[in-house]
Amino acid sequence: MKITVLSLFPEYFEPLLRTSIIKRAKEKDLFEFETVNFREFTKEKHGHVDDTPYGGGAGMVLSCQPILDALKSVRTPRSKVILLTPQGDVFQQKMALDLSKEEHLIFLCGHYEGFDERIRDYVDLQVSIGDFVLTGGEGACMVICDAILRLIPGVIKQESSHDDSFSNGLLEYPQYTKPPVYEGKAVPEVLLSGHHANIAKYRHEQALIKTAKNRPDLLNDLDLSEQDQKVVDSILKNK
Ligand code: ADE
Repeated sequence: MKITVLSLFPEYFEPLLRTSIIKRAKEKDLFEFETVNFREFTKEKHGHVDDTPYGGGAGMVLSCQPILDALKSVRTPRSKVILLTPQGDVFQQKMALDLSKEEHLIFLCGHYEGFDERIRDYVDLQVSIGDFVLTGGEGACMVICDAILRLIPGVIKQESSHDDSFSNGLLEYPQYTKPPVYEGKAVPEVLLSGHHANIAKYRHEQALIKTAKNRPDLLNDLDLSEQDQKVVDSILKNK
């Protein structure tokens, strides 16, 4: 997997590559990462990459030429080009999993007030990380890269991502570590029992309970067993 980020602020991505799990994965060459500053591609004589909007209005708009020339310089027939925009499809775990299987991802990060609408015609996918507006696409791009990179084989232990929230449609079950009692709060007995079947049953039930309490909307997409439906109904009744 190779990731290319087109951005006016490549330094945004340095901490991501210098820290923790992503740093170790980079050192093991589990992925390639490059940034391209599209300012270097501008043909505007003062080095500008943006201009005032036609029709008037506040702010500046990123121009087609520098971004699309930068894109042409890195795109291959096997690249998938993603534009970060609050108007895009909302990023979710399923999208992270699909994108983690791609050979080459190119992210276009807008900045300032927005970009020329015609840029959308040159991308494969438009993605938002939620219903809010950031100062630029870099923050969103970092979130998305993190979620994708941890799914690349070898980056984290396979079992760790199996039980992730959303991967089976449910939020993840609660986890505990030592000590068994902290300030009077005890770890559930079953987790100390060593009985694997009971632990698996308990965790599944807790995942259902947590999802019903915190994100009941997720349950609409699931085909629950009769037993699971009973658990969910009892939570929703007492909510
Ligand atoms: N750029 C600005 N806001 C954004 C958002 N919410 N998601 C993706 N890109 C953005």
